Amino acid sequence: MSPISIKKHGDVLIVTSNNPPVNALGHAVREGLVAAIAEADGDAGVKAVVILCQGQTFFAGADITEFGKPMQLPMLPTVVDIIENCTKPVVAAIHGTAFGGGLEVALASHYRVAVPSAKLGVPEVKLGLLPGAGGTQRLPRVAGVGKALEMAATGNPIGAKEACAIGLVDRLIEGDLEQHAVAFADEVKAVRPIPKSSERDDKLAEARANPGIFDEFRKANARRFKGFDAPEANVKAIEAAVAKPYAEGVLDERRLFMELMTGSQARAQQYFFFAERKAAKIEGLPEGTQPRDIRRVGVIGAGTMGGGISMNFLGAGIPVTIVEMAKEALDRGTGTMRKNYEASAAKGRMSADQVEGAMALLTPTLKIEDLADCDLIIEAAFENMDVKKEIFGKLDAIAGPGAILASNTSYLNIDEIAASTSRPQDVLGLHFFSPANVMKLLEVVRGAKTAPDVLVTAMQLAKRIKKVAVVAGVCHGFIGNRMLMPRQMEATKLLLEGATPEQIDKVHVEFGMPMGPFQMADLAGVDIGWHRDPGRIENIRDALCAADRWGQKKGAGFYDYDDKRRPTPSPVVAGIIEEFRAREGVEKREISDQEIVERTLYTMVNEGARILEEGMAQRASDIDVVWVYGYGWPVYRGGPMFWADSEGLAKIVEGLERRGFEVAQLLAKKAEAGEKFTR
Ligand code: 3HC
Repeated sequence: MSPISIKKHGDVLIVTSNNPPVNALGHAVREGLVAAIAEADGDAGVKAVVILCQGQTFFAGADITEFGKPMQLPMLPTVVDIIENCTKPVVAAIHGTAFGGGLEVALASHYRVAVPSAKLGVPEVKLGLLPGAGGTQRLPRVAGVGKALEMAATGNPIGAKEACAIGLVDRLIEGDLEQHAVAFADEVKAVRPIPKSSERDDKLAEARANPGIFDEFRKANARRFKGFDAPEANVKAIEAAVAKPYAEGVLDERRLFMELMTGSQARAQQYFFFAERKAAKIEGLPEGTQPRDIRRVGVIGAGTMGGGISMNFLGAGIPVTIVEMAKEALDRGTGTMRKNYEASAAKGRMSADQVEGAMALLTPTLKIEDLADCDLIIEAAFENMDVKKEIFGKLDAIAGPGAILASNTSYLNIDEIAASTSRPQDVLGLHFFSPANVMKLLEVVRGAKTAPDVLVTAMQLAKRIKKVAVVAGVCHGFIGNRMLMPRQMEATKLLLEGATPEQIDKVHVEFGMPMGPFQMADLAGVDIGWHRDPGRIENIRDALCAADRWGQKKGAGFYDYDDKRRPTPSPVVAGIIEEFRAREGVEKREISDQEIVERTLYTMVNEGARILEEGMAQRASDIDVVWVYGYGWPVYRGGPMFWADSEGLAKIVEGLERRGFEVAQLLAKKAEAGEKFTR
């Protein structure tokens, strides 16, 4: 049965798509749309057409699962042209998300109406693509060049109200969408000529007079787009819309689209789209497991971490009780939260009312007993097992039955923490990444006894606070930090052997990481995990800490920093490295960039393989989600496991062996069998 159905209301043909979950424009939908337009064209009794969708959303785009497979005709560019060339006015009636190909269908329609909550966007760039069904040519003609550039190159959608203000939507519909869309169609059915987006020119005039707009846009976004192919291709396609007639512009669009589609970045980004969604699924839970109700959250610790964690819940409208031991620390913590909100408001991301609304949901207290009415309590105290055990012992006595007790530990054993309570089934790890109100990753650490409904609650809550959650098992450092360890260890050894922090960081940044291992150490604090005894110097890090070089916060770490936090290589650090080199009897030699890649990135893949082997991650793609969202691994390389697959596992194994590393069994086995981790 076709997902497209038609019915008549007077002389308006209503074309309805029912293709759950998101009305993706798969083959059957495209075929159905073409047939429906043919019906409208051929029926003299039809004077106008309304296209709308059932379910949660208007067409959310092309069907991504069809990418990489032989395309079945009709292709989407043909479908949208058929819609635009319909001899009766077509009205797109939008709710939910008109994304990608969905917005292209709407742009090819002659009119667009939308409910106020609808979102319109072309997120193709996030899949390493550009709108390939005329979107790069029609969007600037309808929404204006500046807006089209922003929407296409960033992939961020706009709301229906804004869309209406700029002319992308013709009317906002309050009330029943179908009914009002039909009424709208009735109003416009006699209007001639039928307005076609591809024939419009008015909104291109400004950019034609000022072609510098494109380079200005490139310059303003250079940092954001660094390393990615797709944003530039989007800009070029819109440039073509301005510089050339429509018929030529679409050819440029097609060529650029195909170049992207066959490139490695699009493959990686499309892989990652599904990886992110798979991460939300937990294997082996009893079917129908229901989440627990979370009405109030407690947070222990009002430091950077506790404050950031609290802000996530406040932002989602969930009340938070935050506990500190001293009044001063509590005031400082809540003060910082307010300042962060006010900074967001100053940037226009929040209104003053929203700031007050969020802060009103916060209850600061010095009494841990005040957590008694919380349904979830997250401990974000000092990273020390004894401290955590004491807190969890107290929570066991205070928290109501069924309350979930979570630790934000980055490394410590959740099972040991759970054992300090009488309810290990209610305990799990919720590992947020700093800054916790910004970073999207949440590692959900599943203890040996964590109950299924506790896990389900955590995953659902993560979605509510707009985090991407990945389930990890109990092991030192879980997924992300565990893989960081071999990288950090090798990076430090490389210093002794002759590489500089600058060289190692440069290799990582050129690879696409936001920063290298030493820039990261300086940002996070070189003193993290330091034993705090300046007299005990066992490694380069100890020496740096003893010399008061704790990183950016002290103006000195692996680099020297000026008052604007700009780094320069440090002669002091070079001296310390030299000293250690002599002390350890290591001979200095030339280190190639390739050696840095093999020793710091291949070793991460090796650790990832061990994590999989031990069942500490459910799937290789979960590891990739951790690295993209937790550490800024470039999404156009998919993540460490996808990247390893792309490089070839045999090559990774050869490199590891040549450098004297023990290869993880799973990695060796897969390389031998010619298999991949992620495909
Ligand atoms: N194709 C195929 N499947 C899709 C899809 C698409 N375009 N969009 C979403 N899905 C699937 C998801 O994989 C998921 O499947 P699962 O349940 O098996 O895991 C299911 O639909 C629900 O998706 P979400 O979990 O993401 O649901 P949400 O409600 O959180 O979000 C959404 C809905 C905002 C529509 C979000 O899914 C989304 O952003 N989708 C992608 C939109 C997009 O990128 N469109 C452009 C496609 S490329 C294109 O159009 C090319 C054209 O220009 C030629």
